[in-house]
Amino acid sequence: MSAHLIDGKAFAGAVRSRVAAHVAALAAHGQPGLAVVLVGEDPASQVYVRSKGRMTVEVGMASVEHRLPAETPEAELLALIDSLNRDDSIHGILVQLPLPGHLDANLVINAIDPAKDVDGFHVLNVGRLGTGQTGMVPCTPLGCLLMLKDYHGSLSGLEAVVVGRSNIVGKPMAQLLLGENCTVTIAHSRTANLAGVVRRADIVVAAVGRPEMIAGDWIKPGATVIDVGINRIAAPEEGAGKTRLVGDCHFDSCAAVAGAITPVPGGVGPMTIACLLVNTLHAFCDRNGLARPTDLT
Ligand code: GUN
Repeated sequence: MSAHLIDGKAFAGAVRSRVAAHVAALAAHGQPGLAVVLVGEDPASQVYVRSKGRMTVEVGMASVEHRLPAETPEAELLALIDSLNRDDSIHGILVQLPLPGHLDANLVINAIDPAKDVDGFHVLNVGRLGTGQTGMVPCTPLGCLLMLKDYHGSLSGLEAVVVGRSNIVGKPMAQLLLGENCTVTIAHSRTANLAGVVRRADIVVAAVGRPEMIAGDWIKPGATVIDVGINRIAAPEEGAGKTRLVGDCHFDSCAAVAGAITPVPGGVGPMTIACLLVNTLHAFCDRNGLARPTDLT
């Protein structure tokens, strides 16, 4: 491996420490509160929600969890969101996705008060991001951007290829990179000559959800590779029934060519939660008429 390893875990720890210092310094204004709503029993979502709750408390915020059965009627979920919107002790609301199939995710997300939409998924916050206005920025792409800016300094003029076009990662990532004056391409699973498109990139953000799809010979030598994928695959070499986590990039071959790369796990994942706490602090500051801290983003 020749690439520099971008240590998202360490970076996220540093961001959380700064958040904690602000929370302590702002105690006279109250305590930021984050509500997480989980509908159903998706095992991966349960793991995320548990670590979100633990890290929220660690930075001195109040953490509220609402776990609802998978068959919860839509009206009941909307009523819960309405009560959280009105609750002055709650500054951030996150509804864990994916939702069970009978629930309309757009309707549910757009029912959240945009000022409390710490995921940045409400259509108003999506519009603000797309037009360069201050709002809430989705946590995973924000985490990727912070790592890129930390490593590169200025991103201006760089060729960025985002592989994946989801509302959660691909599209907002492209907007953020555009805001940093990158030349941005959004590629996806149907892109013709995907390898050739990725090979143009100084910055590759992989968010397609396909294990180890991006190979080292797709990477321009010296490029920076941000791997958003978290895929669990069978690992028979580690024993019968064993699994391991891999990204959307084939790590060893990409790391042999790239200038810098994020590992999976320990890269983007920890940054997502750190940015959720940043957004909750931003929502708290906005609510109290305080300037947002400038040392977090
Ligand atoms: N599911 C996977 N990623 C996310 C995220 O960033 N926010 C929410 N709410 N659900 C997710």
